[in-house]
Amino acid sequence: MSTTTAPSPIRLRLRPGVRKLVLLLHIMSAGAWLGLDVAMAVAIFTGLNTDDPQLAAALFQALETITVLPLLTTGIVCLITGLFLGWGSKYGVVRYWWVLIKLILNLILTALVLVALRSGVQAVGAFGAVLAQDPTATADLQGIIYPPIVSPTALTIAMILAVFKPWSRIRKPRPH
Ligand code: HEM
Repeated sequence: MSTTTAPSPIRLRLRPGVRKLVLLLHIMSAGAWLGLDVAMAVAIFTGLNTDDPQLAAALFQALETITVLPLLTTGIVCLITGLFLGWGSKYGVVRYWWVLIKLILNLILTALVLVALRSGVQAVGAFGAVLAQDPTATADLQGIIYPPIVSPTALTIAMILAVFKPWSRIRKPRPH
């Protein structure tokens, strides 16, 4: 009994050099994304824990600049290059669990930048401006600790999935 590969809805023919270039961009964007998450975590946790109000004010005011647009850019580049890699290889986009889960994580994380992170860092930035004028000002900023925990955790899961490529296909190949 032989088996055949289920036909993919979209299949791109990428020349090996082009595929390597797209893979390079994909890995670079994923790495830059994680790096930005680390910078966000350093800025947020240092700002929350430092005894120096001027340092906290500066970090809080810089937060929007170092997060929203850079994170959106890396997330979208990672998504687009990932889609090309999937469509241009045997892996497909919805053929293997490890690719599909990465797609879902990528979409959720990128959407969260717009629907949750942006308003959060804007509020923290506004407090930073107040703190720069009044070093005794206080605010409840606990909500801002979640993005630098959730995003690197999800990205680490995506990296592990990318490297180990665990589990089987979503649907078994049809017997012929
Ligand atoms: C969530 C963010 C993502 C991260 C952190 C990530 C990370 C990576 C990394 C590090 C590799 C290189 C693995 C290796 O060469 O052994 C890789 C490969 C790959 N990624 Fe992603 N990825 C992400 C999103 C996506 C998305 C959304 C897709 C497709 C919809 C995708 C599809 C692929 C495919 C097909 C490969 C294998 C390329 C090949 O070797 O031919 N990735 N990914």
